[in-house]
Amino acid sequence: MKLFNVYPINPINIVKGVGSLVYDDKGQEYLDLYGGHAVISIGHTHPHYVRRLEDQLHKIGFYSNSIEIPLQQELAEKLGHVSGKEDYQLFLVSSGAEANENALKLASFYNGKKKVICFTGAFHGRTSLAVAVTDNPKIVAPINETDNVIRLPWKDEAALEQAFADNEVSSIIIEGIQGVGGIQVAPESFLQKIRSLCDKYNAVFIADTVQCGYGRTGKFYSHDFAGVNADIYTMAKGIGNGFPIGAISISPKIQPAYGMLGTTFGGNHLACAAALAVLEVMEQDNLMQNAAEVGGYLIDELKKFKQVTEVRGRGLMIGIDLPAEYATAKKDLLFKHHIFTGEAKPNVIRLLPALNLTKAHADRFLEAFTTVLNK
Ligand SMILES: Cc1ncc(COP(=O)(O)O)c(C=O)c1O
Repeated sequence: MKLFNVYPINPINIVKGVGSLVYDDKGQEYLDLYGGHAVISIGHTHPHYVRRLEDQLHKIGFYSNSIEIPLQQELAEKLGHVSGKEDYQLFLVSSGAEANENALKLASFYNGKKKVICFTGAFHGRTSLAVAVTDNPKIVAPINETDNVIRLPWKDEAALEQAFADNEVSSIIIEGIQGVGGIQVAPESFLQKIRSLCDKYNAVFIADTVQCGYGRTGKFYSHDFAGVNADIYTMAKGIGNGFPIGAISISPKIQPAYGMLGTTFGGNHLACAAALAVLEVMEQDNLMQNAAEVGGYLIDELKKFKQVTEVRGRGLMIGIDLPAEYATAKKDLLFKHHIFTGEAKPNVIRLLPALNLTKAHADRFLEAFTTVLNK
């Protein structure tokens, strides 16, 4: 059997990882500033994470949601505490798309309405509704098309007010910082406007924090910079440091009912152990503070490069705009300097490293970047 060939891959076989370093099958070391697409939050093979998963695996890896799983409650308490939303409720799934799919569905159950507002440049996943609210026609199959989606220009407050006035809006979904869209930070005033319009029209504010959340920006949710609460926060990526976990954190105003949502894998023992290990390390090692500090340092240093058009982002979610002549910069970083970075079109380099990235590793990148830009 062959693999279904949908990924344009680099010819590199990574076989080992430690912290922000990974190694290929030939023993070549790479600096990982991509974190496997913002997934590696506490570093590869963190000893506490490995131990906690190993211990759990020896006890029990999986049982279904038909029984008590105290680890879920433990995770809910810890996540409520670390995220600062102790009165919210947790529902566990296995991916970002699944988290968004459930959030959109829950919103519609809550207010009985159908329309969802989303934005140009947005990415919310590849399943039915998640892909319908994603701004990329190439990945929307005919079966995913729906009249329930209202796509508005990013940051356009007038269009937002008009859309609420003209439609029965069930929910609005927005990334605090668009990731795939090229690291575009949602203005605080825009998020505050969304909050007030959702209150006025009884719509549900869904904060997609799958990429921009989980401490990456120095605050737990990047939407927190606006000083307003969303009704539902969707999470994945960093929550499990590579273990496939997604979650939604749900405002107390939305009440559950048996059978309303459900999943086979979500919240299993092993998944909870992984998520707990991540939060424990985040707390013990002050990783949000480190993300703010090392990220702030990187942003300041990157702004000094005269070749760079613009640097955007917060903490360790950074976008570097380069002119077209540096189109090969990402490949040069990877193949000449052995540094993994992400990209977004056109010509944006994305940095999404582990939250415990050291200043020394940041400097190693800055040195290589200088060489790449002065080629
Ligand atoms: C903002 C955002 N939402 C949702 C998703 C979908 O997550 P998953 O690939 O886990 O389904 C992604 C993935 O990149 C994302 O960046």
